[in-house]
Amino acid sequence: MIQEQNTVADLFQQITNFPSTKSGQNRLVYSAAWLKGQELLIKFALQANLQVAVDDYGSVYLDLVGTQADQVIATGSHMDTVKNGGRLDGLYGVLGGLQAILDLQQKYGQPVKTLRLISFCEEEGSRFNATFSGSKHYTGVSETTDLVDDYGIRIEEARAQAVTKLQQLSGVIRKLPQLPESFTELHIEQGMRLEKQGLSLGLVSGITGQRRYQLLVTGITNHAGTTLMSERHDALLNAIQLISRLQQLAQAVNPNLTFTIGSFAVWPNTSNVIPGKVEFSLDCRYPDEQVLNIFEKLMRNAATEIADPEIKVRIENWVHDQPVILDQKLLAANQRLAQKMGYQTMTMVSGAGHDSAIMSQRVPTTMIFVPSIKGISHAPAEATKKEDLARGVRFLAAALHREAY
Ligand code: GLV
Ligand code: MN
Ligand code: MN
Repeated sequence: MIQEQNTVADLFQQITNFPSTKSGQNRLVYSAAWLKGQELLIKFALQANLQVAVDDYGSVYLDLVGTQADQVIATGSHMDTVKNGGRLDGLYGVLGGLQAILDLQQKYGQPVKTLRLISFCEEEGSRFNATFSGSKHYTGVSETTDLVDDYGIRIEEARAQAVTKLQQLSGVIRKLPQLPESFTELHIEQGMRLEKQGLSLGLVSGITGQRRYQLLVTGITNHAGTTLMSERHDALLNAIQLISRLQQLAQAVNPNLTFTIGSFAVWPNTSNVIPGKVEFSLDCRYPDEQVLNIFEKLMRNAATEIADPEIKVRIENWVHDQPVILDQKLLAANQRLAQKMGYQTMTMVSGAGHDSAIMSQRVPTTMIFVPSIKGISHAPAEATKKEDLARGVRFLAAALHREAY
């Protein structure tokens, strides 16, 4: 049974409690939990008399229409999560943005420019090997097609099924709306810098560059008891040595180049068989593109230097996002606004990727961060103090007020 949603806080509880398990959030794009999240958001918005549109990728656009309706100021973030993720990454920017717009409406009435809340369908790249597909579609930067998930389900099929359900909800318009004049994303910091400095707001000047690769190491599958150690072509042992070498290289290129093997699979994954195939991901990030280029070159060389000719390594690069500088004017305006409101802030570069990096290619874009307790994110323990969450929403509302009233 769908409960009544009275406040945005109730809506947050409903979305994060579906399905009701004690583990982390699993709103992978187009899954049942994701669909429920977008659906609950739409129903809440319709009750609040916002205009609701859904595009063909399943991003949701909620408009508080202004007197000059086609001038649009937008805020928002993403509905999807990583596997077993936290409650705030993405959803805080969606529901915090919604709260800010409703607060402005209550206090100041109809805006001059339309205020738009965007709940992007997908940002994390945790179901299909593609990131930011919602904002890439909205901006026309690129389309995300022809992919399958871990179960062999095609993205087109998953998308069509889920998005049709949203577009058929009564009161929903199917469209890809025009781009806004500006975009502001409210987000948790997902790091420790604000907490360490005792600051409650971060203003984001740029977003780090990131690359993600899939590495496939193949050897020869064979019997664990009868194959002499000198006769083996073990994909797993070679992969482990390669990973260790790559980590050393990354550190040598730059100690602040992040290096993460987040997913790892071995075949046939049986105790008495020498593994013939290993696949793993590699995520690395740095704000200077040159550093990423140097590391990539070293990685490709290292993969060819494995002594055993029976061991082959294939490398696929599926995320190649350049470092981004966000809008300087909006940043300066937010710095002045924070000063006026008596908030001490830190201007910072984001180590996480965000839809803002894509939006900024077409639209002046800025971001506001609130602290993450102990810097934990992409994990169920992800949390932010209540007062910091509320301050972020107040600050966002003030920034939107400046742009739209
Ligand atoms: C997205 O949240 C990322 O930075 O991986
Ligand atoms: Mn996020
Ligand atoms: Mn994330």
